[in-house]
Amino acid sequence: APQKVTKVLCIGAGYVGGPTCAVIALKCPHIQVTIVDLNQARIDAWNSPDFKLPIYEPGLEDVVRACRGRNLFFSTDVEKGIQGGGAHLSTSSWRRGRLRRWRHRPRLSSKSPLCRAALPSRCALSSRQTPSPTAASIFSLTPSSLLRAPPSPTFSSLTASSSAPFRPPEGKDACAALAAIYANWVPTENILTVGLWSSELSKLAANAMLAQRISSINALSAICEATGANIDEVANAVGYDSRVGPKFLKASVGFGGSCFQKDILNLVYLSESLHLPEVAAYWRQVVEMNEYQKRRFSKRVVDTLFNTITGKRIAVLGFAFKADTGDTRESAAITLIRDFQSERAFVNIYDPQVVPEQIWLDLDEASPSVPLDNIKKQVRICGSALEACKDAEAVVIATEWKEFREIDWSEVYKHMKKPAFVFDGRLIVDAKKLTEIGFKVTTIGRPA
Ligand code: UGA
Repeated sequence: APQKVTKVLCIGAGYVGGPTCAVIALKCPHIQVTIVDLNQARIDAWNSPDFKLPIYEPGLEDVVRACRGRNLFFSTDVEKGIQGGGAHLSTSSWRRGRLRRWRHRPRLSSKSPLCRAALPSRCALSSRQTPSPTAASIFSLTPSSLLRAPPSPTFSSLTASSSAPFRPPEGKDACAALAAIYANWVPTENILTVGLWSSELSKLAANAMLAQRISSINALSAICEATGANIDEVANAVGYDSRVGPKFLKASVGFGGSCFQKDILNLVYLSESLHLPEVAAYWRQVVEMNEYQKRRFSKRVVDTLFNTITGKRIAVLGFAFKADTGDTRESAAITLIRDFQSERAFVNIYDPQVVPEQIWLDLDEASPSVPLDNIKKQVRICGSALEACKDAEAVVIATEWKEFREIDWSEVYKHMKKPAFVFDGRLIVDAKKLTEIGFKVTTIGRPA
């Protein structure tokens, strides 16, 4: 019979582990939830007395305030946590699939606590990471020296709404234990249990199909710009057909985030290793379209500013990959700013949540051949949208933060160099209104 879960250990205190397990603690007061991570600074931040948490997500602080010290704990003692038993959730990440390195086999990062710690012989291990085939690879890693754990532990794999049994039969216990945790707040008919491959492929497929919708609409935005159609009108009309549906059809400067690109690249890798090159090429094109969209947008900025931005000041509003997060992984803003830098423009950046250290890290990583000190001569991080726009010749909107919809554009206009340009990469400004104020507005998916 499945063990009754009274303890959950989460390995990894990042964007997935933190919020997921905070919610488990909130919804399951009878379960003691411990989140471990090797990164001391990150754990200190989760434990900080004034709740300066390491990640931002609306509502998260309230959940942590309600549970921390009650049934939610953060620690760097991975080994002790693992030996404590109970259900183990791992968010250990795979090496990031990168466009330049298509052929890299996804593998567990050597930094993963999973690679460093011994697993007890009887624990339910479930992975909320998406790449395929996570569970099978962890399983095959087990006997190796990486995991100093003889008798093989029990595995199951969990995705957003599904969990999968895995042989040996105790895998069914792990699956049932996990389903029982979720049953505390998720209606049982919404908890799907499927086989290992279906489970993992479903997660990849869901993200690939969502990303594909964005690449499709972004591909159409290029046609709109060349013809006179308006991408918002096209998306609205197409989405009216309930088989297509209205959601996730917002044209943009390109999708970002830690999941879409990585999951598609894993799908590509999987297809290639299964000798399905046509399938691999099909999905790869979704990512290539996304790269094209980012390139196209920065080129449009340069073209519009009379073919050169050298020495000009550009305000970039938003650095996070989407609104309501401080997460910058694969953010389109990084690529745009790198392009502007290499055209020798000056860039002012403002984001309501992303901390300056993160911005410097990302820009440094994006231009490996340029010393950070040189980048800092060209880039300034600002404390407000208005400050960023001061003396700029152009404003580029890269993230759809709500506060950017509420900007006092007349005020901004007064402080900008003229002619003042606005490039809306998120379709959030009222182009007509801004044009009346005096701006030259360029919008994705609309002709100049
Ligand atoms: C995505 C999926 O949406 C989640 O269902 C999944 O659980 C998660 O990945 C994961 O694998 O963990 P996430 O990457 O956090 O979630 O964010 P999304 O809201 O999906 O946005 C991804 C990117 O697409 C963002 O850059 C966003 O701005 C962009 N986007 C989204 C558009 O450009 N247009 C749209 O219409 C929607």
